Amino acid sequence: MFTVIPELSTETKQEVFVVGLFEQHSPLKGIAAKWNEQLNGQLVELLKEGDISPKRKHVSKIHTLGHTNAKRLYFVGLGKKEELTFEQLREAFGKLFKTLKGTKLTEVAVALDTFTTEQIDINDAAHALSEAFHLATYQFAGYKQKTNEPEKKIEQITVYTEGDKEEVEASLFVGSVYGKATNFARTLVNTPSNLLTANDLANYAVELAKKYEFEYEVLEKEEMEKLGMGAFLAVNKGSAEPPKMIVLKYQGKEAWENVIGLVGKGVTFDTGGYSIKTKEGIVGMKTDMAGAAAVLGAMEIIGEIRPEQNVVAVIPATDNMVSGEAFKPDDVITSMSGKTIEVKNTDAEGRLILADAITYAKHHGASYIIDVATLTGGVIIALGAHTTGAMTNNEALFEQMLEASAETGEFIWRLPITEKDKERVRSSAVADLNNSPGREGHAIMGGAFLAEFAEETPWIHLDIAGTSVTSKEHDLGPAGATGVMVRTLATFVERFQTND
Ligand code: BES
Ligand code: ZN
Ligand code: ZN
Repeated sequence: MFTVIPELSTETKQEVFVVGLFEQHSPLKGIAAKWNEQLNGQLVELLKEGDISPKRKHVSKIHTLGHTNAKRLYFVGLGKKEELTFEQLREAFGKLFKTLKGTKLTEVAVALDTFTTEQIDINDAAHALSEAFHLATYQFAGYKQKTNEPEKKIEQITVYTEGDKEEVEASLFVGSVYGKATNFARTLVNTPSNLLTANDLANYAVELAKKYEFEYEVLEKEEMEKLGMGAFLAVNKGSAEPPKMIVLKYQGKEAWENVIGLVGKGVTFDTGGYSIKTKEGIVGMKTDMAGAAAVLGAMEIIGEIRPEQNVVAVIPATDNMVSGEAFKPDDVITSMSGKTIEVKNTDAEGRLILADAITYAKHHGASYIIDVATLTGGVIIALGAHTTGAMTNNEALFEQMLEASAETGEFIWRLPITEKDKERVRSSAVADLNNSPGREGHAIMGGAFLAEFAEETPWIHLDIAGTSVTSKEHDLGPAGATGVMVRTLATFVERFQTND
């Protein structure tokens, strides 16, 4: 896919060359300046006239009519050099690949050195390029009967750089791993629930474990009953599909200590249960396992990169259905932690399955817990479709998550959990907790409920209900599942530092 070549000369023949272009006073440098000479100064003219634009994320194309070694030149506008961020560079590459998608090209060459700045070195640029390539060209295969010839796709990207060949290759590899793992998560989320049951999700996880030699465990219903996972089991009661509690362990340190627990909501379909969703609200609920997909995607990256960290992934997988057996509003259930819960709303099921999953992650030695979940419609109202809602009981841990998210461009914003909020989730007349204490602050109520199970363990909750799917195509992918938090979780794990 990627080939790195240490030298770029005007002799190098290519169909298409891609060059980064910054807004600056003397616009053309290096190879671009040479091309300009070969084109009798026409590049500068085209720039002046606006046919080639250095504006950020503008992609311009010219045909050189045989005057240079490249038949076509693609210019990727990068804006002001000192302002370009890593995230913007990744998006600019995304835009490039979206533009190339319409062509029949199968090969491109990239003058990678033209994409670097003071802040973004050649290795960052390489990472951004390969990650953006996979993200931007992703397509869900779907289930339509194939009638046409398969579309032509880019299969070869030649990267020219004066940077260290091996380092650039390594960065291209890491970017590819990040991009591909996000795409695996996207595919899981896009798959409908009749084709992705809890059992299918467990099988997927076991395959992953085998591929990367993770220790794994899939708990069956009987074992969960013995462990007293009453909250998780309650949600599964109305289902014809048996629940699965999926555990993957990656040990990158000598001793099983300082373990990061990644917990992902795996509701394969959420009807709402007896607090049933409306016919509009129910559509799309196949994506209610996007938290589980994010965790599995992150584990894929961890398996490839093998950081010196310990990670336990815990995924409670079930659908939330209605039947004569289903749990009901007013039911009181007992979680694995021993805390009792009054069910006020069977549609607030995510927090119930996560409650036992968090307890179980601790049981497996998790000393830090990050949970990821499409937990509340409320977070969409609060923060919209581009920002993940976060809650925490630990400032220092959250700081590290913010840094990871700044690097991946998957934005998160913290919501508070006050003492008053804690009182509200404890406001049941008959049980320790109430799973749905009323309309106000839905997203916060979800977080405050989970905090009761994290207890003293440093914990972050990421509510991805708004960010896990998108209705519109974007620079780094099509409409549908985004694979949000795969890259942030993996970056967080890679960079993680303990406080002691
Ligand atoms: N899976 C939903 C949250 C959701 C809504 C995800 C829209 C994606 C898009 C969750 O289980 C749910 O139904 N939450 C309720 C909680 C309420 C009953 C306390 C909600 O947010 O309405
Ligand atoms: Zn629900
Ligand atoms: Zn749900």
